[in-house]
This record gives sequence, structure tokens and C-alpha cells, in this order.
Amino acid sequence: MTEYVTHGYEETLDLARKLSKEVKKGSVIGFLGDLGAGKTAFTSGFVDGLGIKAEVSSPTFAICNEYAGEGDRVCHYDMYRVETWDDLLTSGYYDSIDSGAYVLCEWSENIFTALPDDALIIKIEKLGENDRRFTLMTKAEAEAQ
Ligand SMILES: Nc1ncnc2c1ncn2[C@@H]1O[C@H](COP(=O)(O)OP(=O)(O)OP(=O)(O)O)[C@@H](O)[C@H]1O
Ligand SMILES: [Mg+2]
Repeated sequence: MTEYVTHGYEETLDLARKLSKEVKKGSVIGFLGDLGAGKTAFTSGFVDGLGIKAEVSSPTFAICNEYAGEGDRVCHYDMYRVETWDDLLTSGYYDSIDSGAYVLCEWSENIFTALPDDALIIKIEKLGENDRRFTLMTKAEAEAQ
């Protein structure tokens, strides 16, 4: 497990930009963390770090937003309203994974068992108004918590 603490929105963008260059192409990232934790903020930095110019916002109603650049594509899911297997199957989640795009999932708590074994789990905790702890772990490590 690796931990990072950021002290503001911009620092989270920087962290995510850095990590976008380190994770394997086409990784699945599952976020664990509450409302306002910084899942969308992280996604925004990640997309920017890949060189994709896009307005990133929570895909709460769309369930999935896609951001595409020259070479890379990011599928940004919000699983907040995904409650059943049928919801998940119709969301396009598995197609996104098969497509080789990066798949970033907010509220991955809701679909945790459907995350691939090699997914990167990022737990985000609010330490204070502007402080956030990011804990990077494997799915097995998250399950053991
Ligand atoms: N260190 C920080 N990193 C990220 N965001 C921060 C930080 N400090 C304060 N914030 C604020 O916290 C909020 C994070 O919002 P964001 O939309 O990223 O959360 P979220 O986890 O996606 O929530 P939701 O589940 O509602 O989609 C923003 O208003 C941002 O300005
Ligand atoms: Mg969000």
C-alpha cells in the first residue's frame, strides 16, 4: 500500500497527473470514498496527465463519461446508482474494460466484486477541509481491510 496526503485541490490534480504516467495503460481504478472526497478531482488530474483536454465532471446521471485523446481513452463511471447486475451489464462497464480504455470508477463500493483482480484501488479519506489521504492498494488488500 502507498499513501499520499494532499493539502488542496491543485495538489490532488498534480498527484493524479503523476500517477497517470505510472499506472499500466488500460488500468481499472476503483475509488472508495465519500461525497466530496475528491474522486472527480483525481479523475480530472488523471485525464489531464494523459494529455486529454476535457471538462471532467461526475457522471452521476450519465453513469459514464468518456474522454478521448490522441492515443488514450478514459471511461469515467459513477456507480452510485448502480444497484443490480442488470444495471451493471447495461452500463457498458464490461465493454469499456474489454476496449482497453482506462476505466475509473467512482463509488466502486457498489460493484466491488466486479472489479478485476488487478484493479488499482484508491481509498480517499477526508482528513480536514482541504486535506485528503489517498491510499493505493490492490483489490486483495482492500478486501482484507
Ligand atoms: N485536497 C483536496 N483534494 C481534492 N479536492 C479537495 C481537496 N481539498 C478540498 N477539496 C474540495 O473537495 C471537493 C472534491 O469534490 P469531488 O467532486 O472531486 O468529490 P467526489 O469524491 O467526486 O464526490 P461525489 O461522490 O459527490 O462525486 C471539491 O469541492 C474540492 O475543491
Ligand atoms: Mg464525483
